[in-house]
Parts: sequence; C-alpha cells; structure tokens
Amino acid sequence: MKPVPGILDISPYVGGRSQAAGAGPTYKLSSNESPLGPSARAIAAFQQTATSMHLYPESSCASLRKAIGDTWGLNPERIICGNGSDEILHLLPQIYAGHGDEIIFSEHGFLVYKIVTLAASATPVVVPEPDLRTDIDGILKRVTDRTKIVFITNPNNPTGSYNTPTELRRLRAGLPKDCLLVIDAAYADYVDRNDYESGIELVATTDNTIMTRTFSKIFGLGGLRVGWAYAPADVVDAYNRVRGPFNVSSAAQAAAVAALQDQVHTAESKAHNTRWIAWLSEQVTALGLKVYPSVANFLLVEFPPTGKNTAAAADQFLMKKGVIVRAVTAYGLPNCLRISVGSEAGNRAAVAALKEFMS
Ligand SMILES: Cc1ncc(COP(=O)(O)O)c(C=O)c1O
Repeated sequence: MKPVPGILDISPYVGGRSQAAGAGPTYKLSSNESPLGPSARAIAAFQQTATSMHLYPESSCASLRKAIGDTWGLNPERIICGNGSDEILHLLPQIYAGHGDEIIFSEHGFLVYKIVTLAASATPVVVPEPDLRTDIDGILKRVTDRTKIVFITNPNNPTGSYNTPTELRRLRAGLPKDCLLVIDAAYADYVDRNDYESGIELVATTDNTIMTRTFSKIFGLGGLRVGWAYAPADVVDAYNRVRGPFNVSSAAQAAAVAALQDQVHTAESKAHNTRWIAWLSEQVTALGLKVYPSVANFLLVEFPPTGKNTAAAADQFLMKKGVIVRAVTAYGLPNCLRISVGSEAGNRAAVAALKEFMS
C-alpha cells in the first residue's frame, strides 16, 4: 500500500535518550521532564483508579476540563483535552489543512510541527530564525492564500526564547482571519517575565487562535500523556468529532485533576527550576560556552563548531559520565546541546562533566 503524499517524507520523531553507557548513576536531562516528579496527590489519584481499569474513561474529560477552567479562569466548554498536547497538534492539520495547503512554523521550532504538516499532506513553510527567536515579520512575509495554520512555540523549545504579547498580537492582526494561529505554550508554567503571556488573552479576544498546554512538564505527568487547549467553540466542536472517543485514560484524567489541586508541589517545581536554571546558566557560561537566555526548564548551550570541544564530542563525553542531554542537530542546531534542568545532583553532575570536558 502506498501512503498518501507526505507520509514517507516524515523523519520519525526521536525522543530524548534515557540510557547512558557508564555503570554509575545516570541523570536524564534530555526530555525537559520535571526533576521533582509528580505530586504525591497525583500518584494517589492514579492508584485509586487501578481497580476500575476495566471501565472506559469518561469520554469528554468533564472533571479535568472543569479543574483546568477553575485553575486558569476559563470556560470548560472552550477546553479540549488530548493524549498529550501532541495529539491536539497532530489533529489540527488533519482538520484544517490538506494537499496544497501551507503550514508555517519557525526554523528551530518544535519538531512535531513538520511531522503533523506532512501527515496531513500539507506543505511545511519554514521561517528562518535570526538570533534564535521566532521572527514575526518573517512569518507574516510568508503568508499566502494557501496558509491554513501558523504554529508558534512560546517559549520556544529548544532555544528557550520567547515572544511578547505585543508581538503575538501583531502576528494575529497580520494573519488572514481564516488562518489558525496555534500558540504552543508547553513551557508557559515556568515563565517569570512581565512581558510574557501564555496566549489565553489572545484566544479570548480574537478569532481562530488556539493555545495548547501540557501536564508533561511542570506537573510531572509526561508518562501519562495529558495535554489540553483553550480554543474557539468551532475548533472544540471539530476536534471532538475527530479525536479518539477515549483519548485520555481514566488514570491520566484523575492524576491531572489532583496535580492541579496540589499547588504547593507546582510552586516547588517552579522554584526549583528558577533556582537551578540560573545556577546552570552561570556555571556553564563561566566555562566559556555560550548559553542562550531561557525562560523555560532547559538551556541551549553552544559549542565551538570545530576542534576538540564540539557539541558532538561534548555529548559523547557527558554520556560516558552518565549525563544524558539532547543533541539538537535535528532542530538545525548542530553546534548546540539542550540541557534540561534536573535534580540538584543531576545539575551538579552536568556542570562537573562539562568542566572536565572543557579543561
Ligand atoms: C514545545 C512542545 N510542545 C508540545 C510538547 C508535547 O507535550 P505533550 O507531552 O503534552 O505531548 C513538547 C514536549 O516536549 C514540547 O516541547
């Protein structure tokens, strides 16, 4: 059988590695996961669902949508839930684009956008990123009458940069009304900046704008696969027609509700990140490496393009020391590595290994 156009052009997504070569302790700093793990309340809620695992989940995620609505002050009717935000990102191009349509995203944006574009047989339009920041004017210049979706990651993964609300408003205002603007705010919960907004305001005040979020990062539920989006009513309606009827498991729904209730744990996760990202950034910069400013839970570190201290050599060296980081060649950044903020021990091990590598 021949797949529809686009499918065989997809390079399958490769997640962060989790195995290191050495025998000592390993620190997985390759997937932007929460070093504090899930809340104890989320674990308890997950366990409580065990005896009813023979029953199908509640299909509309009603309790979870209510809990999300209560947390962020949103109308639950305008919330959709997915098997990770990945599922939502995957289905939007299938709903709104097809052969001959164009989908725009930024050069170093999340890899999944290209996959989901090709999976819908649509054409990816990649916008260069000067200074490793999403270029709003660059996007607007590439809009044609075939543009159906624009994906923005804010803050961006893997660069850690972000765009301001003013920039996003300008983007929305410059896009055709019937072009969907998807603001992927997977790392919004970590950001501590006055000039940042996750996109809620823009979704509420403009047409055809959608913001996606995840429970995989600050809430520590990556293994359970829960994401959500705040979307216009017609997008909610279309999504609910195409998604799997039981796309979020009972355990995942229960754990996500409990995670939202544990505000102390969320605050601790954020405080841990704020403290250690500053420390990592300072320590790695002191080794003579370029560290891009990040508002998320990871740092992009640039290595010399040639010589003995390249990113590829550092990756191998760190691996031998049990520190697993993310090579970002697939993101068009062959001279960089992305290091997630880990536990104190993981962060110290990463810096110690980098120090040895550089000396
Ligand atoms: C920018 C961005 N969007 C979405 C996701 C996917 O999140 P989820 O686990 O909810 O599918 C990730 C995960 O790494 C991400 O970095």
